[in-house]
Amino acid sequence: GVEKMTDVGSDESTDTLTGAADREWEGFMGATFPGLYAMIAQDYMHKYHMTREQLAQVAVKNHFNGARNPIAQFQSEITLDTVLKSTMVAEPLRLFDCSPVTDGAAAVIVAPLDRAREFTDTPIKVLATAQASDSIALHDRRDISTLDATVAAGQRAFKMAHLTQKDINMVEVHDCFSIAEICAIEDLGFCKKGTAGKFTADGETALGGKIPVNTSGGLKACGHPVGATGIKQVCEIVQQLRGTAGKRQVDGAKVGMTHNVGGTGATVAVHILGRV
Ligand SMILES: CC(C)(COP(=O)(O)OP(=O)(O)OC[C@H]1O[C@@H](n2cnc3c(N)ncnc32)[C@H](O)[C@@H]1OP(=O)(O)O)[C@@H](O)C(=O)NCCC(=O)NCCS
Repeated sequence: GVEKMTDVGSDESTDTLTGAADREWEGFMGATFPGLYAMIAQDYMHKYHMTREQLAQVAVKNHFNGARNPIAQFQSEITLDTVLKSTMVAEPLRLFDCSPVTDGAAAVIVAPLDRAREFTDTPIKVLATAQASDSIALHDRRDISTLDATVAAGQRAFKMAHLTQKDINMVEVHDCFSIAEICAIEDLGFCKKGTAGKFTADGETALGGKIPVNTSGGLKACGHPVGATGIKQVCEIVQQLRGTAGKRQVDGAKVGMTHNVGGTGATVAVHILGRV
């Protein structure tokens, strides 16, 4: 996967990215990805009473992890105040709720398991690969703060791997905006709907928590070179499973998951990987 996004200014990259949303209604009316995810955040916060501080904790945690990842775009820790006092982008999302514009590339070698040792001494097994899709426009969705494609792809992946949420040691989710991580961990079943804000603020998604989420720093701190992000998530899980993730290593990692989103949830791909 590869993406070079910084050759153009933010206005042009924003317009290009909006091509992954509904053009006819959303794009034509001027909606951008920060704007669309802001609507999801408004809806979610209204329904489940998540606080602004709980939402900001997603970015604080991801910057903490990014500070322990030598290939992250942002390698600095931040505080709640950094997020809460940053520039407003699309209410309630501020600059530090957004993934940045990034150049990046990532690669994996996929081989039949019986030949994998020809290429590496530490092969990682693909336990499940699942994909699901939904309507491209938010206004066609059953519920805009639940990504049904995430729910479906997650369930398919767990079924294929014969595993449950309890078996996953860490997960890389698509936190293109802080609210996206909140929705993802609920829709994948790591916590109940409406509770991810508290779950995050209680440290359950941090390194050492119940389910470490985005140990790489996620899209927020590691960066979001759109076409490279899904592969980069796989690379992070592979490093974790090989025990080579350095200061962000999850102890005894055996099984990991990746969750990659297209648009606001029009397509979702979920993978489960395990040590051989
Ligand atoms: C949030 C966003 C609008 C900011 O763009 P911008 O205002 O043009 O920002 P600039 O590139 O001019 O950067 C201004 C400063 O903010 C910093 N910055 C930019 N994006 C940042 C982010 N997401 N988090 C933290 N800091 C950020 C830059 O490093 C720069 O800092 P400096 O002045 O110290 O050098 C842009 O990053 C964006 O659109 N992000 C979302 C991308 C997206 O939609 N991806 C697809 C999702 S599915």
